[in-house]
Amino acid sequence: MYGIVRKEQLAPNTKLFEITAPAVAAKSKPGQFVILRIHEKGERFPITIADADPEKGTVTIIFAEVGKSSTQLGKLEVDDAILNFSGPLGNATKIEKFGEILCVGGGVMAGALLYQMKALKKAGNKITAIIGARNKEHLILIEEIRKFSDELYVATDDGSEGKEGIYFLKDILEKKFDQAITIGPTSMQMIVSEMTRPYGIPTTVNLFPIMVDGTGMCGACRVTVGDETRFACVHGPEFDGHKVNYDELISRMRFYNPNEKIAMLLFDGV
Ligand SMILES: Cc1cc2nc3c(=O)[nH]c(=O)nc-3n(C[C@H](O)[C@H](O)[C@H](O)COP(=O)(O)OP(=O)(O)OC[C@H]3O[C@@H](n4cnc5c(N)ncnc54)[C@H](O)[C@@H]3O)c2cc1C
Ligand code: FES
Repeated sequence: MYGIVRKEQLAPNTKLFEITAPAVAAKSKPGQFVILRIHEKGERFPITIADADPEKGTVTIIFAEVGKSSTQLGKLEVDDAILNFSGPLGNATKIEKFGEILCVGGGVMAGALLYQMKALKKAGNKITAIIGARNKEHLILIEEIRKFSDELYVATDDGSEGKEGIYFLKDILEKKFDQAITIGPTSMQMIVSEMTRPYGIPTTVNLFPIMVDGTGMCGACRVTVGDETRFACVHGPEFDGHKVNYDELISRMRFYNPNEKIAMLLFDGV
């Protein structure tokens, strides 16, 4: 069992948990994820690692309560425990001195971006960060992200804080970047990739296809990258953003929406 040692509400329906998982914490790197199962009747679902403290033996995750499993998870309290917490899974973010790097994070994934930025900063990069959310209430970790940014832009879909939307990125791209990384809603990662493409900026995305086993066996997380079929859990979740087939990815992510809605309707809150 994996005990919860810290719980914070960061925004509406957005929670941070710090969980005791020494073996996972010892090996975690930015960009990787865990697959967890709350109890024996629960489903397995993936969450990106937002931080890890090998000395304390803890791993931090940040998640949005969007359906049955994430809502169940959000109801747990400090001293409650999670049955399974497997990881770290997937390949870590490539950390090296690129030079000028653009880091774009959206929604709950600002925490995962911060974990990446800490490592990229330590490697000697100059970071321009963009943090977005649907509105002011859903922006998280801005001050922490500011500490690792040479320049920081905040954006919201409705313009309630900072820039409105993501298209102001076009002006920022006039500055030369050696690398871009993005993590957050798939549509945002797709737009960022399309905007960096004409500038020839290598762009790494971190994808969230449906995952089941997380070991490359079931094929649920299949994505098309260039002319290759890749399994995000073992070949990713990071890929060249200019080569991903986003239409296919988004349609596969929506495949179980009717079942997910029914599961949430039948969910009795425990
Ligand atoms: C590698 C990876 C990392 C992720 N990291 C985070 C994170 O750090 N924070 C966070 O809030 N969310 C993260 N997600 C998404 C998270 O797994 C889903 O939000 C969660 O599974 C929803 O389950 P649910 O029962 O609450 O909602 P549901 O109602 O079952 O699903 C809501 C939506 O979540 C997605 N989803 C559902 N089941 C899965 C699954 N087994 N695998 C992947 N996506 C699924 C689908 O797009 C679905 O439409 C990540 C997904 C992947 C693949
Ligand atoms: S989740 Fe089964 S192959 Fe990736």
